[in-house]
Amino acid sequence: MARDDQVYDAVRRRVVLFPLPFQGHISPMLHLAELLHARGLAVTVLHTDFNAPDPARHPEFAFVPIRETLPDGAASPETDIVAQLLALNGACEAPFREALASLLLGQRPPDPDVACVVVDGQWYTALGAASGLGLPVLTLRTESAATFRSMLAFPRLRDAGYLPIKDERLDELVAELDPLRARDLIRIDGSDEDALRGFIARVADAMRVSASGVVLNTFDAIEGLELAKIQDELSCPAFAVGPLHRMCRAPAEHSLHEPDRSCLAWLDAHPPRSVLYVSLGSVANVGPGVFEEMAWGLASSGVPFLWVVRPGSVHGTEGTPRMPDGADEEVRSRGKVVAWAPQRGVLAHEAIGAFWSHCGWNSTLESVCEGVPVLAQPCFADQTVNARYLTHQWGVGLELGDVIERATVAETVRMMMTGKEGDRVRERARQLKLQADQCVATSLAIDNLAQYMLSI
Ligand code: UDX
Repeated sequence: MARDDQVYDAVRRRVVLFPLPFQGHISPMLHLAELLHARGLAVTVLHTDFNAPDPARHPEFAFVPIRETLPDGAASPETDIVAQLLALNGACEAPFREALASLLLGQRPPDPDVACVVVDGQWYTALGAASGLGLPVLTLRTESAATFRSMLAFPRLRDAGYLPIKDERLDELVAELDPLRARDLIRIDGSDEDALRGFIARVADAMRVSASGVVLNTFDAIEGLELAKIQDELSCPAFAVGPLHRMCRAPAEHSLHEPDRSCLAWLDAHPPRSVLYVSLGSVANVGPGVFEEMAWGLASSGVPFLWVVRPGSVHGTEGTPRMPDGADEEVRSRGKVVAWAPQRGVLAHEAIGAFWSHCGWNSTLESVCEGVPVLAQPCFADQTVNARYLTHQWGVGLELGDVIERATVAETVRMMMTGKEGDRVRERARQLKLQADQCVATSLAIDNLAQYMLSI
């Protein structure tokens, strides 16, 4: 394409990327890598041993492990997420710095020299370490612009009394973050709110001190206003380069788990828009009570469904969770249960009529890009923000409610799949998909980002 050629007859330079080792962060970072490589930049991925990406999927990139030593339990799903992020930042700072320094030392002409480093937005220690080595650093935010903006506003929200979140103010609209209410702000149940705020403050401080740019996996058609407000607040440029998985011509699969592709053949046997896809992403867990209500609600809805039940995704169980007594046969007569799905392929399948989702940002973008409406069950962190935008800003989602209970589940599922409300949000989702298609077809955001990387 002419666009690509324009940018890169340039001298070959290298970009070094450092993803956070979780599914929802690895995929967007490696999609960004694909896009930059397609524009002529050489790519080195520094990575942790924990949840290491598979180098075989990208022979065109150099992969370098940083060889971190994590404290015991730091990366266990039982450890709360804020504690995991703090531990990862602490344990990876020095190994990351050493790996980056030896990469710089080992550079010999005609090796492409390092133009800049891109670290995941949660790596506040790596941001400082790379900048300390004299390199320009950009930070990739893997959440929405609305979430990022709400994080930047945290100190003001504390002064205005919204934080710590108070029960009596839960339904109050947060004036500067419309349409978010206090209940939609990032929170992590079971985590100390002070620790979460402290973590967000470290991330924001590191970014303000060390980042030469912010990269966001979103696009103007859905978050134009939020992006403008972010740019007003930052002293470095912000680049909205999303939806990253759609910007790639043939986005590679970056799953940490092997997807069960038999579900695609199962979907082939179903009429268009008849199947509900159910998945709570790569991290969220539910209690056994909620799992049981989900199972009975799905079974009694009368709707065919494809349900991802990840091993370990029900609190207190190891391995694949067992269906509740009596529900197994009912579930299997109408549904297909898999441990991990090829989600992008599933959402693109014409048999899918809606997505019961935890509203992680990648899942949100993937459903928007396929025109699939969402039944929202946010679990933690930024998912409440995304759910609010899906249901109240873009009009492409319905809420499942705070309490998951079988009769309500069955009724809401039927409303979504066969009711007028479902038709309404499905039509809106179809329109939003067209806007996403338009954005993908016309965006120059990656080219602008690449040019900026070569200029700093
Ligand atoms: C969490 C946050 O909620 C998210 O907003 C943040 O930016 C990253 O961390 P996660 O639980 O991983 O994310 O959800 P999500 O962001 O939706 O990412 C999950 C990814 O795994 C998606 O790309 C999805 O396609 C993929 N996936 C999930 C599969 O490929 N198969 C599955 O069965 C389930």
